[in-house]
Parts: sequence; C-alpha cells; structure tokens
Amino acid sequence: MYASEEAHSSIEKGVKIAGYGKENLCYISADENFALIPSLLEEAVNKDKEKGFKPVCVVASLGTTSSAGIDPLEPIAEICRRHGIWLHVDAAYGGSAVILEEKRDMLREIEGVDSFVFNPHKWLLINFDCSAYFVKDPQLLVRTMEMTPEYLKPASDAQVNNYRDWGIQLGRRFRALKLWFVLRSYGVEGLQEMIREHLRLAGLFRKWVEGEDIFELMAPVNFSLICFRLNDGKSSPEELEEMNRELLEEINATGRVFLTHATLKGKYTLRMSIGQRTTSINDGPCHCFLFPVTQIHIFVI
Ligand SMILES: Cc1ncc(COP(=O)(O)O)c(C=O)c1O
Repeated sequence: MYASEEAHSSIEKGVKIAGYGKENLCYISADENFALIPSLLEEAVNKDKEKGFKPVCVVASLGTTSSAGIDPLEPIAEICRRHGIWLHVDAAYGGSAVILEEKRDMLREIEGVDSFVFNPHKWLLINFDCSAYFVKDPQLLVRTMEMTPEYLKPASDAQVNNYRDWGIQLGRRFRALKLWFVLRSYGVEGLQEMIREHLRLAGLFRKWVEGEDIFELMAPVNFSLICFRLNDGKSSPEELEEMNRELLEEINATGRVFLTHATLKGKYTLRMSIGQRTTSINDGPCHCFLFPVTQIHIFVI
C-alpha cells in the first residue's frame, strides 16, 4: 500500500488492522507544496512489482492533516488504473469544500477513484462523529463482509442496503440523521456560503501573514487552514521553535482563539483553522494583544 509521507496516521493504523503489516505501507515523498509526487509513486510501484510484490492500494489525500496539502488525483488515478490498484481518497477535512463549484478542480479524475471518505464533522457543522464513505462498487464490500445467519434475515432484505454488510460493524448509530438535520436547516446554499466565507477569511489572514516581515507563510493556503510561523530572520532553528512554542502558548492562554501546531519539513509551525459557523470578521472590533515574550501584536478577530 502507498500513501504520501504527509498522510494521516489512520492510514497506517488501517494497514495494521487489515493485516498487511505496516512494513508494507510505503510512504512516498511529498513536494514543496506537501503533495505526493506521482513519479515517485510510479517508481515505487514498479520496483515492488519487480520484486514480486502485488501493489494493492494507494491512498491519496485531499487536505492533509498538517498543512492541507492536495495530492494530484489525475496522475495518481492514471497510475492506479494502469497497474490495477485500488485508489482510496482521504478527504477528511478538504472534502467539505467540494460542495463549492470552484473547489471541484481537485475532483478531476474522480471516476478513477474506488473509495472516498470525508468527515462532515470537520467542516460541515456536524457534531462528532460523522464520516461519509463513498464506494464505487459496494458489491466488493458486500462480498467481503456479508454474513447472513438465519436471525439476520429480515423480510425487507431485498429493499434496503444492509450496511452491516458494507463494513465490520453490525449495529450502528443513525449518524446520517444529524447530517440530514444540518442540510435541512442550512440548505446547500447556506453551507456553501459558510465555506466560501471561511475561505475568504483564510485568504485575508494569509495576506496579513504575507504582509508582515516577522511572519512567514509555511504552506499554500488550499482551504481555510493557514500554516505560518514567527521568523525574525536572525534566530537559529532551535530559537525559532522555542519562540513559536511560546507564542502559541500565549495566544491560547488568551482563551479567545485556539491555534494548533505541526511540524512541516522539520519546522515547528503554527496553524490557524477557520471552521466555525460564528467566526466572522464582523464579530466586533479587532482585539489587539501585545505579547510580552515576543513583543509583537496579534490581532484577534
Ligand atoms: C487527512 C485526515 N484523515 C483522517 C483523519 C482522521 O479523522 P477522524 O479521526 O476525525 O475520523 C484526519 C483527522 O484529522 C485527517 O486530517
């Protein structure tokens, strides 16, 4: 199995649970935009085939966890098609954005995708947990997972999808209900409007970061996640890390915003994610904080 070095740890967990063994998960390097490099994927597949291995699955990410990088679906799907490999797409975070026409570029070659997951609990206002799983040919799941003892043969079998046959779990919660309520409450247009606004705010924040010498943008802003750090241009990598750790602590201690962090290409990075219904530039006047350690102003909207 293959995934980018930026793929979420759940991929490795899945590989272990599926019994392939994590030594059979091959991590492919990502480029400067944190996207999987297709030529390296092809190279790895060919090498493995020469050694007698059978490549079975590629996991492409649309919105990686650390930086929201986008793996290029078109060339990846083409490689998978040529080698008969199952292509799974992990769009846990980024998948919500494709409700916007202008974000559907990432779905070019979706026909070549075998399975696709996104998490409405991440960016579509659904309470935790709700993951939407799309599969091109459900019969493949049914053939793998179906077990029908006499006591699991209801009369309605022929008229319904028995989701117990699509996965491991038999009984399950009605998670789709809360998704339905959100769709009914906001409408598709309401949700599109919200995501569009988050993207606009992220673009604004990106411009602020780019406009300040003391800050550095650490990754392309593909969605509403902005990766940045403080960089005074004269501190050592260790000092920069310490400085940014302190800044993160100070920001979060205000209780007004909550930022997270990640390491991107070995550099400690701050992450601002905009994903809440009530986050708005019009919420009130900007609050300005002077952080004593770093002696910089942070504006919190
Ligand atoms: C790209 C990606 N995949 C998978 C996951 C796992 O999501 P969850 O644990 O919410 O199902 C995450 C969580 O951050 C993620 O960012």
